[in-house]
Amino acid sequence: MTNVARTVTRVPLAQPDIGTLERELVGQVLAGDTLAMGPFTEEFERGVAALARTRHAVAVSSGTAALHLAVRALGIGPGDEVVTTPFSFVASSNCVLYEGATPAFADVEEETLGLDPERAEAAISGATRAVLPVDVFGNPCRLRDLAALAERAGVPLIEDACEALGSTLDGRPMGGWGRIGTFAFYPNKQITTGEGGMVVTDDDELADAIRSMRNQGRDQDGTWLRHVRLGFNYRLDEMSAALGVAQLRRRDELGAGRRRVVAGYRERLSGHDWLRLPEAAPGAKVDWFVHVLRLDQRIDRDRLIGQLAERGVQARPYFSPIHLQPFYREHFGFRPGDFPVTERVATSTLALPFSSRLTDEQLDRVCEALVSAVREQGAA
Ligand SMILES: Cc1ncc(COP(=O)(O)O)c(C=O)c1O
Repeated sequence: MTNVARTVTRVPLAQPDIGTLERELVGQVLAGDTLAMGPFTEEFERGVAALARTRHAVAVSSGTAALHLAVRALGIGPGDEVVTTPFSFVASSNCVLYEGATPAFADVEEETLGLDPERAEAAISGATRAVLPVDVFGNPCRLRDLAALAERAGVPLIEDACEALGSTLDGRPMGGWGRIGTFAFYPNKQITTGEGGMVVTDDDELADAIRSMRNQGRDQDGTWLRHVRLGFNYRLDEMSAALGVAQLRRRDELGAGRRRVVAGYRERLSGHDWLRLPEAAPGAKVDWFVHVLRLDQRIDRDRLIGQLAERGVQARPYFSPIHLQPFYREHFGFRPGDFPVTERVATSTLALPFSSRLTDEQLDRVCEALVSAVREQGAA
């Protein structure tokens, strides 16, 4: 097997889908003199605002920067708590730490893997200043209930929709459910800018503050060396924005490609009792960001990842609980058992190769490798 694996090309977990339009628009930027804060940044912002159906969209250098500015613009600081999920990418709770506040974790619900509204309610305290749920893998969390909870608690909702551009819940786009929403455009996302992110909001004052903070605290008139608040360099450059504009224009095509792959996995893998395919939340249309299976407990997931690697297929666990990260354990004393649903789910997830470029032959190879590896474990 190992000898065979050396000779076959790997099926990668993710691949950006970059075409001639992307090259053309980035080339236009490079042929001009405006490499930052130009017309492509504005067009990209207008496009994402239209998708999220929000009044404002502010382009920034990453999803992490978007989350940081969301927390900061809401004035969250030392002594404050933000109720959030441990089943996420680490940035959704690091953004709270950047401002000296504390994440108050609440466990997720088994179905959507989003923040459980009942558990979130129990985590609300006198120090709560926001509720920050995550649309995991692009699947909407229970936003209606979570927004109602935030309202009852008198605090804003920050929707981390970094993985959910283009998904909808009851016809309403993700990212636009809270006071502030965030998107990310790393190369494994639905659309990419290389590195990049976006903050969306309907609130004019918050949008102004976020625009200023991403640009070193400059005022709206952008006077070169006048800084009215503490700011950052979280700007998105114009080449990245041009890439984003091209990807947005190709969004239907890219989304159709991902849907073909989701259907391809469903066709090849349904009927196996040792796995669960991704399922959209009730009322949701999901533009999946990753394709994550949940495996029966009798399968040794970590061994399976190694077996797949031997067969030239890249696979990953998704996510590893935030509260069990070494940094969080050390600083906050979290332990295994603190958030049982998150921990149980996290041992059973397997992200398979997923991109609009995945061919039918690659799909065959991934699924054959998976089934044969599980058989080798004696679990199928
Ligand atoms: C849920 C979630 N939040 C935040 C981020 C951070 O985005 P970025 O990597 O662009 O900083 C990501 C990116 O992977 C994410 O998946």
